[in-house]
Amino acid sequence: MAFFRKDLLDIESLSSEEVENILDTAAGMKEISFRPIKKVPTLRGKTVILLFHEPSTRTKMSFDVAAKRLSADTHSIAKASSSFTKGETLVDTARNLEAMRPDAIVIRHSSSGAPYLLAGRLSASIINAGDGTHAHPTQALLDMFTVREKKGKLAGLSIAIIGDITHSRVARSDICGFTKMGATVTVCGPGTMIPPGVEALGAKRVRRVEEAVQGADVVMMLRIQKERQKGSLIPSEREYARVYGLNPERAALAAPDVLIMHPGPINRGVEISPEVADGPYSIILDQVTNGVAVRMALLYLLVGGRGE
Ligand code: CP
Repeated sequence: MAFFRKDLLDIESLSSEEVENILDTAAGMKEISFRPIKKVPTLRGKTVILLFHEPSTRTKMSFDVAAKRLSADTHSIAKASSSFTKGETLVDTARNLEAMRPDAIVIRHSSSGAPYLLAGRLSASIINAGDGTHAHPTQALLDMFTVREKKGKLAGLSIAIIGDITHSRVARSDICGFTKMGATVTVCGPGTMIPPGVEALGAKRVRRVEEAVQGADVVMMLRIQKERQKGSLIPSEREYARVYGLNPERAALAAPDVLIMHPGPINRGVEISPEVADGPYSIILDQVTNGVAVRMALLYLLVGGRGE
């Protein structure tokens, strides 16, 4: 199936067939990372710019690794060392970068909607690597890829997402993606961290973490996004861990072959205990490995062949 998009901005605008296409392409890409020589010439001569206005370890590095495994050239620009500090706007920055003729710009920004602003103005492919509290589509795609790889399907699975849903762009994109592919999603967290009307996103809400975990095929834990909160939304991290943290006793309530996931970075002992994070059901590092394959697939589908 052909993929005719210029940009990857969110999960909402993708059809389930397009999601399948991306996941299938990623499955083909994955083995490249396990070869002795981890490089193919697919995107030779292409240029990818990584424009990150927020910190990142996994997303930025895996886009960089993904592009280089496809032989594209990558260049990074960070907020603190860019002319943003001299008053240049995001659009002016992006237009100047576009003048250097990149094929794709991967952007992470604290403002929801920033990637859309660029997508409408630039001819380079724009890939949303996380915008404010709005969306993190490549995280959702790698999460779906990882679950599909482990379970052989997405439809019919029950997914529990627990934590700071309000401030999590991962939660929004995951709820959209998993429900689009036929899974059911249940969310749970403190009342101050569940957005009003979360049901409209397609998720069911429950009050107690035990209820969310009971029988779940997948349990996805989220960190408390302090950097996006105005004031403290919980009495203490210790109290949060006691009421909402995933420990071995709570994990035992899930399906016997549960997958424990976390987009990272994890806060050990807060939302997830070390025994669970490092335990036999944890696939947290598989998510990171698969992030490279999914981002290779996206770069290939969006950039490969464009302008030929
Ligand atoms: N999952 C994720 O977005 O991690 P980083 O913030 O390290 O990129």
